[in-house]
Amino acid sequence: MQFMNDIIENFFIRTIKQDDSQRIWEIRNHPMVRENSNSSEIIDFEKHDAWFQKKYFSGSDNHCYILEKKAGYIIGYCRYDYNSQYKAYLISIALDPEYHGKGFGKYLLSESLKQFNKGDIVAEIKKENMPSVKLFQKNDFNIYDEDDINYYLKFKQN
Ligand SMILES: CC(C)(COP(=O)(O)OP(=O)(O)OC[C@H]1O[C@@H](n2cnc3c(N)ncnc32)[C@H](O)[C@@H]1OP(=O)(O)O)[C@@H](O)C(=O)NCCC(=O)NCCS
Repeated sequence: MQFMNDIIENFFIRTIKQDDSQRIWEIRNHPMVRENSNSSEIIDFEKHDAWFQKKYFSGSDNHCYILEKKAGYIIGYCRYDYNSQYKAYLISIALDPEYHGKGFGKYLLSESLKQFNKGDIVAEIKKENMPSVKLFQKNDFNIYDEDDINYYLKFKQN
């Protein structure tokens, strides 16, 4: 409870701005984050920035929330990108590994879900990434399919 109060006092969640691109790129390219991603190659900044600006600032139906320390340092993001194959938003979350395992993922996921509150949401999570599968299940995602690599989960809106 004290920990949660500390988070609420010192961190906040907001929608992204164009100049967040660099910090999101740094987190996305961290080896531990790439390991759990479906596209695990290193991306150079120019390529990332072009993708980022087009994805979130060209009027497309994609959304991204940032977890930020009140001093202004971004420690994670949670994306909700519209996916026409799923006809739903594909969610993707990542934190700076220095902040893993301290409850921040739980906070960013649950709070951004409350703020987003729009349409169906699906997640693709590697089977080997059990902490993430559990994190999503605890936040009302249910596994509805699987293949050799991934579990596929759907958010059960109340
Ligand atoms: C997934 C991620 C956002 C989770 O954030 P986090 O802050 O590390 O997780 P939390 O500390 O909030 O913990 C969430 C739950 O997972 C458990 N957990 C966290 N790290 C764990 C670990 N290494 N091993 C086992 N369980 C772990 C916690 O105990 C907690 O469960 P609880 O509610 O029973 O206590 C973060 O690890 C990350 O950025 N990973 C890389 C990217 C990624 O894998 N994204 C998911 C695919 S979209």
